[in-house]
Amino acid sequence: MKKLRETMGFAASGGRFWSNALLLLCCWDLSRAQISYSISEEVKKGTIVGNVAKDLNVDVQELQLRLFQVVSGSNKRYFDVNPKTGALFVNDRLDREELCESKQKCSLNIEVMAQNPAKLYRVEVNVADINDNSPVFPLQKLVKNISENVVPGDRFSLPAARDLDVGMNSVKSYTLSPNEHFSLDVQSYGEQSVSAELVLQKPLDREKQSVIKLTLTAVDGGKPARSGTMNIIVNVLDINDNNPVFNKPLYKVKIKENVSFGTKILTVAATDSDEGTNAEIIYSLVEQEGNSASRLFSINDVNGDITVKGSIDYEENPAIELRIQAQDKSGSPRHTNCKVLIEVEDINDNAPEISVTLLMSSVNENIKPGADVALITVSDKDDGKNGKVDCKIVGASPFKLQSSYKNSYSLVVNERLDREQISHYNITVIASDEGTPSLSSTEVIAVHVSDMNDNPPVFPAPVININVKENSPAGGLLASLTAHDSDIGENAHVHYSLIDGDSSRSPVSTLMNINSLTGDLYSLQSFNYEETKQLQFKVQATDSGTPPLNSNVTVNVFILDENDNSPVILPPYSEAGSVNTENIPYSAEAGYFVAKIRAVDADSGYNALLSYHITEPKGTNLFRIGSSSGEIRTKRRMSDNDLKTHPLVLTVCDHGEPSLSATVSVDVVVVESLDSMQPSLRQVPMKEEGFSDLNLYLLIAIVSVSVIFLLSLIGIIAAKCYSSDGAFSSCSAPVVTTHPDGSWSYSKSTQQYDVCFSSDTLKSDVVVFPSSFPPADAELISINGGDTFTRTQTLPSTEKNSL
Ligand SMILES: *[C@@H]1O[C@H](CO)[C@@H](O)[C@H](O)[C@H]1NC(C)=O
Ligand SMILES: *[C@@H]1O[C@H](CO)[C@@H](O)[C@H](O)[C@H]1NC(C)=O
Ligand SMILES: *[C@@H]1O[C@H](CO)[C@@H](O)[C@H](O)[C@H]1NC(C)=O
Ligand SMILES: *[C@@H]1O[C@H](CO)[C@@H](O)[C@H](O)[C@H]1NC(C)=O
Repeated sequence: MKKLRETMGFAASGGRFWSNALLLLCCWDLSRAQISYSISEEVKKGTIVGNVAKDLNVDVQELQLRLFQVVSGSNKRYFDVNPKTGALFVNDRLDREELCESKQKCSLNIEVMAQNPAKLYRVEVNVADINDNSPVFPLQKLVKNISENVVPGDRFSLPAARDLDVGMNSVKSYTLSPNEHFSLDVQSYGEQSVSAELVLQKPLDREKQSVIKLTLTAVDGGKPARSGTMNIIVNVLDINDNNPVFNKPLYKVKIKENVSFGTKILTVAATDSDEGTNAEIIYSLVEQEGNSASRLFSINDVNGDITVKGSIDYEENPAIELRIQAQDKSGSPRHTNCKVLIEVEDINDNAPEISVTLLMSSVNENIKPGADVALITVSDKDDGKNGKVDCKIVGASPFKLQSSYKNSYSLVVNERLDREQISHYNITVIASDEGTPSLSSTEVIAVHVSDMNDNPPVFPAPVININVKENSPAGGLLASLTAHDSDIGENAHVHYSLIDGDSSRSPVSTLMNINSLTGDLYSLQSFNYEETKQLQFKVQATDSGTPPLNSNVTVNVFILDENDNSPVILPPYSEAGSVNTENIPYSAEAGYFVAKIRAVDADSGYNALLSYHITEPKGTNLFRIGSSSGEIRTKRRMSDNDLKTHPLVLTVCDHGEPSLSATVSVDVVVVESLDSMQPSLRQVPMKEEGFSDLNLYLLIAIVSVSVIFLLSLIGIIAAKCYSSDGAFSSCSAPVVTTHPDGSWSYSKSTQQYDVCFSSDTLKSDVVVFPSSFPPADAELISINGGDTFTRTQTLPSTEKNSL
């Protein structure tokens, strides 16, 4: 409803409607009469506000004449008057908000003028508000930052919405879009001022909902009401109200013991549901009291990579527990811990260890097989197969290992020991584990074998032959006997003693003496070869062990002949003084046998090999003597010039060195006939006869012996040659040699032997000597009749031609 006010004493007597306008006659004054109308804003152009003429009591007929017109007002002509009817109508758009803004009363004053008489009329037109504007917020979108730790009941102011309309058409209320956190508190201060505040109803949690979108609606009081909206975006600001959280409460990882430095073994990760620095995490290792394992690892504080920093030893730490802390970077940080269990896998990095306990410092060589010598314990720090140890002896050994229980062994004698063969054993024991690759270690156990008296002293040969020259002075050293005892110490300490050979002779202790410590054998007397040719006795060597052991050796002492006997002329001739006489007939032919001188020598060998010579007269041309036979014969027939008596001096020499000789004188008397011969010489012709017979037999015998000998030689040679691929030229004759003990043997040698027979021998003296002279070291074998005594001697070089 519109209200008309009378500002003057004269007011319109009643209201009259013109379409939607009420005309009110307020006053009428010739100059000052004022009338007031009211009209809604935004009415159509041409809408009649009121009939001014009528209301001013101006005759309608006169209007044209009086030039009734609107003369003043604002620049814009919002109203005009119909000059015919006097109606005031809307000439332009009426916008109350433009004309009056937020003034409660909006009135426009216009002046209407009439002429003849000129009169000015004031007309006031009140422009009434209609609800043509909606409430408008100053912002389309409001961003509110609200920390998540605000408590319910806290309020947050909101900007007010503006409505250009006034009065009832202005903002009257607010509404908020439905949500669980906020409510709206609307307060009204008078008609024009209604404001609203957000009130927190339920705590915020940024981690659940970080942005809350609300819509605030302002509603005015018009009919119909109009509204305006604003979007409110509530950013929930983070506070550090969440701990970091590991994505596993417990991490498990397996690593090898030999993992190299810098290897990444695991990455831990924690998340923080806060935001920004509140969610930025620093990882660290927590040092634990009494757990040094954390020094073996390092952690990257940014990405949580755990790497190996120290050397891991399964034997020290088979399982490692680490504590990792994750802490955020906010000013009041929050942190969480987690556990990392690291299982270390064993690798075979420890060699077995061997420890040896020797039970005795040395082992007697008579120790029985099965006896314990040492205890061996092996150990390996590794685990499982890597720590399973097998122990054995390297190489062949008379010892063996016996496993008594796990990882414990005894070193046991397995075979009989002999100190004389091996006195020291280095037994190498090797212990190897079953890892791959296997590790092993060795230990050398030194076992000394101690001696016991199990070896008697031993002489180098069962029989010892000693040659000693006769006539050697008493007290001379004959030989040094040594018996070797393969034991050691007292068990090898040998002393020597003499034992009589056969009881028939005088005790050997009267002939010999032996140094019991050195074994030096001395003669106690000088020997005579012609009396004693050989001595046999025993020497006993005894060691000092308990019980003592002994052994015996047979000692043969051969006494060597010296040329200490001169030849002796045999009867009928004698060398001492008396003159021996032989008669020969004057008619004796050349070669007539005169006499035979015979001599013997007590020595032997060369010392007894005699030769005969005529020493006086020198250079006789009538007689000769067989140098080995001793036969004196005539060289030629007698002549008248020859003397009747020929005194001959004959010498018999042996071949010793120096040579000894005997001399005999024989006077040869030439007689006319044999009748005058002395009966004492009757036998001589018989001898002559006998001699020729004997000679014949001898020759036959020698020839046959020689033939047999040669045949056998040829036979042997042939056999040898046949067996040696027929290389006949390279064959050599087997050689007959003799040994000091008198035995014969054949040997093959390049030496050849000549066998010589003296043409005029009575006894069969066969002399064999090498054909290759010089014979300084030639062998001489003398076969003396049936006597098989032989001797090896040096042939005097001066004598070779005479043989
Ligand atoms: C709200 O926080 C945002 C960042 O989250 C910032 O850019 C903005 O300036 C803050 N507004 C106010 C009013 O504090
Ligand atoms: C660790 O030992 C294993 C076998 O024992 C071997 O194959 C591997 O190469 C070793 N690793 C290092 C890093 O030495
Ligand atoms: C045993 O070992 C020792 C010391 O290494 C050495 O002197 C000796 O010759 C060895 N003996 C044997 C029989 O190998
Ligand atoms: C050595 O001879 C002595 C005396 O005849 C005898 O008692 C001893 O048993 C002999 N020794 C040996 C080893 O034959």
